[in-house]
Amino acid sequence: MSTVRDLTAKTGEEPITMLTAYDAPTATIVDEAGVDVILVGDSVANTSLGHETTLPVTVDDMARHVGAVSRATDDALVVADMPFLSVGVDEKDSLENAGRMLKEEGAHAVKLESGPHTVELTEKMVQLGIPVMAHLGLTPQHVNQYGGYPRQGTETKEAERILELAQAHDEAGAFALVLEHVPSNLAAQITDAVEMATIGIGAGPDCDGQVLVVDDALGLSEWSPSFAKQFGNVREEMESAVDGYVDAVESGEFPAEEHSHEEADLDEIY
Ligand code: KIV
Ligand code: NA
Repeated sequence: MSTVRDLTAKTGEEPITMLTAYDAPTATIVDEAGVDVILVGDSVANTSLGHETTLPVTVDDMARHVGAVSRATDDALVVADMPFLSVGVDEKDSLENAGRMLKEEGAHAVKLESGPHTVELTEKMVQLGIPVMAHLGLTPQHVNQYGGYPRQGTETKEAERILELAQAHDEAGAFALVLEHVPSNLAAQITDAVEMATIGIGAGPDCDGQVLVVDDALGLSEWSPSFAKQFGNVREEMESAVDGYVDAVESGEFPAEEHSHEEADLDEIY
């Protein structure tokens, strides 16, 4: 099992790899490839649950997917993303919701979309033994404020605010920080300014690590953001397998002799 200490040791020395996963077979593949961190993202909303935004995802949804990924993972650090309003409203609920991911579902850490409201909460979680990954820049749970998913930190004042929040979460004890969709020079400055590992998505090459939504990396998503890179064509592969199955059944080619159970020795029933 990989730990937050292993990740800290790697920070600034070697690039850190992180991918999302939401189910056991994908987690096994990602883990066996040696990826450092598996994030069970609330992006499960878009990849797997048919929602347009991440807002409808519940703690129960996350728990189900975190459990599946944890059971299938031997080496990677498993991080549970905390869904909309599951943390930050009430301290007791926040700690119980986050704690559940470690205590019942086998995660090693949680990720919180961060802001001024998560500084003290991060400190409290760390004190209690719940490692925290912060997340700044574009935080998709704020889609209703943004009116979309625009790049963040493109003006100096806003960039300063993100840098200050990064430092506050670093001091609060977060072990890593996802920086999403921010200018690469801002990500580079934040990486210099904090001790925790910075993990970028649409944040340029100067972070300590990179993360992608696994469906985007595999080429399974119908749509991906411009900053994602497709490393395979899994959607095409799946389409061709399904077409092949339909054709084979319709043509009578499947099942063939080798797929059929031997006949049993039955008396004439009628
Ligand atoms: O939910 C998710 O997949 C994420 C990553 C994009 C960082 O939060
Ligand atoms: Na997320």
